[in-house]
Amino acid sequence: MFAKRTNWNMTPNRLSEALAAHRAAGKPFIDLTVSNPTECGFEYDGAAILDALRNPAALAYEPNPRGLESARRAVAGYYADREETVSAEDIFLTTSTSEAYSYVFRTLCDPGDELLIPSPSYPLFDFLADIQDVSLVRYPLLYDHGWLIDFHALEQAITPRTRGVIVVHPNNPTGHFAKHGEIAKLNSICSARELAIIADEVFLDFALDGSRAASFAANRGAATFTLSGLSKISGLPQMKAAWLVVSGPQQWKREALARLEVIADTYLSANAPVQLAIPRFLEERHGFQKQVMSRVRRNLAELDRQLAGQKAVSRLKVEAGWCAVLRVPATRSDEDLAIELLAVHGVSVHPGHFYGFPAAGNLVGSLLVPEMQFRRGISEALMFVEQVFL
Ligand SMILES: Cc1ncc(COP(=O)(O)O)c(C=O)c1O
Repeated sequence: MFAKRTNWNMTPNRLSEALAAHRAAGKPFIDLTVSNPTECGFEYDGAAILDALRNPAALAYEPNPRGLESARRAVAGYYADREETVSAEDIFLTTSTSEAYSYVFRTLCDPGDELLIPSPSYPLFDFLADIQDVSLVRYPLLYDHGWLIDFHALEQAITPRTRGVIVVHPNNPTGHFAKHGEIAKLNSICSARELAIIADEVFLDFALDGSRAASFAANRGAATFTLSGLSKISGLPQMKAAWLVVSGPQQWKREALARLEVIADTYLSANAPVQLAIPRFLEERHGFQKQVMSRVRRNLAELDRQLAGQKAVSRLKVEAGWCAVLRVPATRSDEDLAIELLAVHGVSVHPGHFYGFPAAGNLVGSLLVPEMQFRRGISEALMFVEQVFL
């Protein structure tokens, strides 16, 4: 009686089972996978956050498919601070980037149409695509002193059913930005073939060198949807506040906005208290991002210090984001390695295949972990890998 699209394999993978057993036995462990910023010991202005939710204007219902204008103007202000010109009229508020993805998929794709996604990348895409009856086709990212888009493979992956190319800018977990030349090439490929660019910029503000990467939100070179939200920018995933910006050739944009308006009007999903609080929540980003960047830099420096003292493990270059990819000898599966690391040394990491790394030999760790735990966790992990492989 259920739709085939819900025929997911619900059996937990071996690593999830091992973690559940570890927890059930009451054994402690160092979690190098934490990505929930509200659990990482950052300081938030709690009083201001709660105060912003107590706005008397929330007692009135003012339905607007794009979301409240005051909130959209604040989002446009976020882009203005980055020197990107975005009109509040081109913004739709959603309750998450995941919801923004579903609006975009519904606007672009008939059942069975295809979207190209980077590999490795963020694992939620498969479910988002299944739910919207979209097929995902992966295009590889290559690592050669840094990450690059494999444009030859990307172009080969395009079929008559392809509707768009997803770019995660910067990508999770590889932490690399699309470069100017790559953006130009994406624009030329997508505009020539009438494909949309779907840019996920939730980590845009987290560049390690402090530079301000260009956003796709003002991209005019191709039909473009840019997604972001407060879960990462301000470290407030619980507030469920995100957005979608439409940009590109004028006529296409008008048509896209009109169609999106019908989808958004059908759900009207963003609630009034949170929308009214968005200007204040956006302000919270300054203090939050400062703390995150300082932790990420300190953890990376500690990682490099420990890596310098051994030979079995190295790390890939990171430009931005909250993760580090560790290269380990590929003599057994990443999942086996992660399970053993948990069982023997009480350290939890993500195996590379979780993010779609094509071959064994990659473990992914979070750089948000509080420094002391990070230092101990990395030290245990490196000791373990050395024991296993040397
Ligand atoms: C690349 C990327 N996009 C989107 C999200 C989810 O964002 P949201 O909480 O707004 O749905 C995540 C969460 O980890 C992510 O890594």
